[in-house]
Amino acid sequence: VVDYEWRGEVSSTEINVLHAEAFNTRLYSDEEWDWVSALERFSLGWVTAREDGELVGFANVLTDGFFHAFLEDVMISARARRGGVGRRVVAEAAAGARAAGCETLHVDFEEPLGAFYFDACGFEPTPAGLLRLQG
Ligand SMILES: CC(C)(COP(=O)(O)OP(=O)(O)OC[C@H]1O[C@@H](n2cnc3c(N)ncnc32)[C@H](O)[C@@H]1OP(=O)(O)O)[C@@H](O)C(=O)NCCC(=O)NCCS
Repeated sequence: VVDYEWRGEVSSTEINVLHAEAFNTRLYSDEEWDWVSALERFSLGWVTAREDGELVGFANVLTDGFFHAFLEDVMISARARRGGVGRRVVAEAAAGARAAGCETLHVDFEEPLGAFYFDACGFEPTPAGLLRLQG
């Protein structure tokens, strides 16, 4: 059974471990990426998905404080994928943003994930842009 929570307790280490696996990055230390303080400072909320206590899914929701919410860092552990956990994590993120009064939830992603975001999660396509700020 997977338990989902909006703004649930989570440690930086747990998120860093999940992030390294999901995005194939090296494992950042908690000093390098202090998720807990970043969530407190920048996030409207976040979703945790836990199976037997272990963090198997996460998503972060940022906001402009009024209309817009932005979905980032949606990640499901490899062993928990393709069982609907991702779809549910996104649904909980949308519910949290809706409850906070936001009107739209934005996400960007690479082309192959259209099946996930459009078909499974109900996002609609819209023009969007990205400016690379480093390198
Ligand atoms: C993308 C991700 C969040 C999906 O999580 P998940 O728990 O496997 O998703 P779900 O089980 O809810 O998938 C629902 C449907 O979305 C589609 N889908 C899921 N993963 C997909 C993928 N990698 N590519 C294309 N479609 C996908 C499928 O249609 C799936 O239904 P099905 O399993 O019956 O075929 C997960 O694979 C992940 O964490 N990947 C690595 C990190 C990442 O890329 N995050 C997104 C950043 S924008």
